[in-house]
Amino acid sequence: MTEPVLSVRNIRKVYGDVVAVDGLDFDIQSGQCFGLLGPNGAGKTTTLALLEGMERPSTGSVLYRGGPLPKGYQERIGIQFQATALQDFLSPYDNLRLFSKFYDAPLPMAQLIEQFRLEEFLHRDTRRLSGGQRQRLLLALALVHDPEIVFLDEPTTGLDPRSRRDLWDVLQVLKDQGRTLILTTHYMEEAEILCDHLVILSHGKVLTEGTPATLIAQAQVPNLDALFLQLTGESLVASDEGAP
Ligand SMILES: Nc1ncnc2c1ncn2[C@@H]1O[C@H](COP(=O)(O)OP(=O)(O)OP(=O)(O)O)[C@@H](O)[C@H]1O
Ligand SMILES: [Mg+2]
Repeated sequence: MTEPVLSVRNIRKVYGDVVAVDGLDFDIQSGQCFGLLGPNGAGKTTTLALLEGMERPSTGSVLYRGGPLPKGYQERIGIQFQATALQDFLSPYDNLRLFSKFYDAPLPMAQLIEQFRLEEFLHRDTRRLSGGQRQRLLLALALVHDPEIVFLDEPTTGLDPRSRRDLWDVLQVLKDQGRTLILTTHYMEEAEILCDHLVILSHGKVLTEGTPATLIAQAQVPNLDALFLQLTGESLVASDEGAP
C-alpha cells in the first residue's frame, strides 16, 4: 500500500495580476516518478517551487505525509539546480567537496562520483563541461545529502538524444533506490519511459492526470504526443524547438 509523500490541496499562486497556479489538487506517492507536463507558462516551475517549499502558496496547502511541511523538510529534498548554480571557478571535484561540507553526514564522494559517472571530467574546467556532464554533476550535487525526494526541472532540455538517454539511466537508478522523483519535461517519450504518474497542466490548472498508459487509453490516442496536442492544442515538438 502506497501513501502520498506530498499532496497539494487547492493551491493557488498569484504574482501581481498573473495567476501562475490556479487551484491544483493532486497526490504524489512515495517512490513514484511524478511528471508535470504542460505548455510554456502552464505553471510547472511554479508548482515545483511550491512543492519544494521555496515559494509559499497564495492560498491552499502543500502537505508532507499528510501534515504541514516539517522542520528539516529542506534536508529531505534534493533540487537539481540550473547550470548557473555551479561554481564555474571550481572543478567538478571541488564543487562536490564544497556541497558535501554543507552537511553533517554527506554520502561518500566516491559513491557519487561512480553513480553519476563523474570520473572522466572530475578535474576539468567546469565551464567546459558538455550539457550532459553538467546535468550529471548538478544531479550529484542535489544528492549529496541522500534526499528522499528529488526535484528536476526539465533535466534533459537541450541535451542530444544520446545524453538524454544516459540521464534517463541515471534517473532510473535513483528510482530503483526508492527515491521519489518529481520532474517537468517537454519530452513525451521521457514522460512515458520514466514516469509512473503524470499531471498535465494548462493555465495553472490540471487538465488530466494518470499513468501514461491510462491517459493514452482513455483518450484513445496512439501516444502522449497526440494526447498533449488534443488537450492543449499545442504540439510539444514545435513548442520545444521554439524554446531557448
Ligand atoms: N516570480 C514571478 N513573477 C511574476 N510572474 C511569474 C513569476 N514566476 C512565474 N510567473 C508567471 O507565471 C506563469 C507560470 O510560469 P512557470 O514558470 O511556472 O511556467 P512553466 O510551466 O514552468 O513554463 P516553461 O515550460 O516555459 O518553463 C507564467 O505566466 C509566468 O510568467
Ligand atoms: Mg518552467
